[in-house]
Amino acid sequence: MTEPIVLGIESTCDETAAAIVRGRELLSNVVASSMDEHARYGGVIPEIASRAHAQSFVPVVSKALADAHMELADVDAIAVSAGPGLAGCLAVGVSGAKSLAWAAGKPLYGINHVIGHIAVTQLQFGDFPKDTLALIVSGGHTSLLHVGDVAKQIDVVGTTLDDAAGECFDKVARLLGFPYPGGPHIDRHAQQGDPTAIKVPQGLTQGRAGREHPYDFSFSGVKTAVARWIEERQDVGLEIPVDDVCASLADSVASVLARKAMLGCEQYGSKSLIVGGGFSANSQLRAKLLEEGERCGVEVRIPQIKLCTDNGAMVAMLGVNLVEAGVAPSAPDFPIDSAMP
Ligand code: KG4
Ligand code: ZN
Repeated sequence: MTEPIVLGIESTCDETAAAIVRGRELLSNVVASSMDEHARYGGVIPEIASRAHAQSFVPVVSKALADAHMELADVDAIAVSAGPGLAGCLAVGVSGAKSLAWAAGKPLYGINHVIGHIAVTQLQFGDFPKDTLALIVSGGHTSLLHVGDVAKQIDVVGTTLDDAAGECFDKVARLLGFPYPGGPHIDRHAQQGDPTAIKVPQGLTQGRAGREHPYDFSFSGVKTAVARWIEERQDVGLEIPVDDVCASLADSVASVLARKAMLGCEQYGSKSLIVGGGFSANSQLRAKLLEEGERCGVEVRIPQIKLCTDNGAMVAMLGVNLVEAGVAPSAPDFPIDSAMP
């Protein structure tokens, strides 16, 4: 099998997505989102998201196959996100994928969604450099990883001790009155603000005392500091300079992420940094990473925006990696794992 063809299925949160990848080529990429249904609740409601997956699963998979001018019989394998994510949402995608695999007699891979976020960069930049570092920033995760082999060997270099970067943005956005998810709103307002206007602390710049590595992140204090600043002004009836708050927050978060990622690259001797996850769509982070990468001689691989947020291509791409590496398919009774590490 020279270039495996894999159908990737994603349903960890509020996106029902499917895509077909052949080798390193994206043949189709279909995403249906229930995001608008959650907006008025200020966050994803698992029950609503699960129902939306059940509704969209067949249409989304059918369209991904049709767009690639294929039938299920034409794919070599199916991959599906088995975790981490919302249990009810994962159950819909995994049950659907198991049914397809069983009916069509195809091997099925239950993959780690978070690793998918970095695997997807291969569609744009080609194979991973040997022994590279990777930064994953999403709504639920902020991790610095060492990637020996994307299919077989990944080690955690650092991770967030509390809130993820996206979560921190979403919480501040809520205080500012933006609908969920607030991250993109902060991004847009930050582009018009002064990043030095408000003194926002940079979370855990030195690493936690007593830990063997300084690559952990903490964004809870950042969120609290910004929240307190907003509340103090509101209490005395002062106007909130929204653009400046957003710019200052974004600058703090982007700076600490870029600094620690570059420090990690230096210590691990990595000349490249793979970046992935929904939060990597953030303009301030993208600019800061590219700027720091240039300064440190590190090639920063950030995918185009549509590959940053949740999609089926990331799942299919990691599936291709697993097929190519000769990894055995998952057992027919493999479980979903909402807290997959
Ligand atoms: O990876 P993802 O799509 O879902 C998870 O697996 O968590 O990431 C979603 C997160 C949300 O917190 C959202 O606010 C954030 O990514 N996000 C952004 C931007 N686009 C998405 N945050 C800041 N700036 C953006 N442009
Ligand atoms: Zn994600």
